[in-house]
Amino acid sequence: MNQRTDRTARGLAYRALQRIEQDGAYANLVLGPMLDESGLEQRDRGFATDLVYGTTRMRRACDFAVDRFVLKAPPPELRTLLRLGAYQIVFGDVAPHAAVNATVDLAPQRSRGFINAILRRVAGSPINWPNAATELSYPDWIVDRLTNELGAGDASAVLAMMNEPATVSVRADGYTQDEASRWVGELVEAGPGELILDLCAAPGGKATTMASTGASVIAADLQPRRAGLVVGNARRTGRHIPVVVCDARNPSFGAQSFDRVLLDAPCSGFGVLRRRADARWRLQPGDVTELAVLQQQMIDAAATLVKPGGVLVYSVCTLTAAESIEHSFPLGWQPLERPPSPWRPYGDGARLLPIDAGTDGMTILRYRRDA
Ligand SMILES: C[S@@+](CC[C@H](N)C(=O)[O-])C[C@H]1O[C@@H](n2cnc3c(N)ncnc32)[C@H](O)[C@@H]1O
Repeated sequence: MNQRTDRTARGLAYRALQRIEQDGAYANLVLGPMLDESGLEQRDRGFATDLVYGTTRMRRACDFAVDRFVLKAPPPELRTLLRLGAYQIVFGDVAPHAAVNATVDLAPQRSRGFINAILRRVAGSPINWPNAATELSYPDWIVDRLTNELGAGDASAVLAMMNEPATVSVRADGYTQDEASRWVGELVEAGPGELILDLCAAPGGKATTMASTGASVIAADLQPRRAGLVVGNARRTGRHIPVVVCDARNPSFGAQSFDRVLLDAPCSGFGVLRRRADARWRLQPGDVTELAVLQQQMIDAAATLVKPGGVLVYSVCTLTAAESIEHSFPLGWQPLERPPSPWRPYGDGARLLPIDAGTDGMTILRYRRDA
């Protein structure tokens, strides 16, 4: 890459992708600081973001498009470049010849002929996808799992939608949050004067929603750094929210002391795959089982903190039964009425697919403790 191309949106995207693919860096953590330092105009920042997230999401499909024409696996830096080129040709809004030329410009001199030849063939050859997982660019197990959970039709619509960029919505108090997350905060139905505990609170989206009702909210999170995000977000949105660092499996609060507890648990994140471009390549099938065990421990601990007649709300930004409706709640708890459409009834609770309202996917369970 020469100095001129290094400063372009594509140059930045190439460097970010190398860090993601070769160093295992998180896409969302790498890109922001690189954009901030880049001096790129807003339009080019948007283009670079699409290139990085799009190429990351569509990695498997891009590799299929390229591998039809390579004889042996290219070295990592050329693999990254071929993915970036293929993404623009197959999925981008750019004219194919422009995509080829601009990608060749990023290549080291000695590899330009190779990159040019391969990308020209990609541009000139219609693709016959071998299966849905390759075309939609997910690991086989994710497609299989969601097909089992949702049925084939909804699963492929959800998977296709999570290849689109995430929408941004800004609340009246300036906090940027997906609408489904805001709805979950509202579905706790916190009221003025109530004492609420948010056990997995960072970065504080739902805690600040609940505090806006006039309820007293205490926020807790396991990670001190993430707990600090809640402090900052409470300050920015003008809410007073004490923040505690603690493990939701062993919380440091008195039994039966809260009117409502929200447990917005760590999860596999199947509902937010569009937001985390590289998550599909990091997730492992065993993660769902491990997380389900952790979540059940959290539910058991959280339930002890709720007053008689109080409410426990459990939510996850995922779509699997093992992480939601297969959990057990203690005896002496009754499910609350399910939230209305666009939520879909699901076990004792409700589920929102990304295709239902263009939001992240979420699952919610709400129970009241017998008085
Ligand atoms: C889904 S996020 C919470 C999002 C937050 N409720 C919001 O609306 O902004 C899950 C959180 O759980 C925290 N967490 C993970 N394991 C935990 C544990 N054992 N105890 C408490 N918090 C935990 C993570 O640090 C993460 O911040």
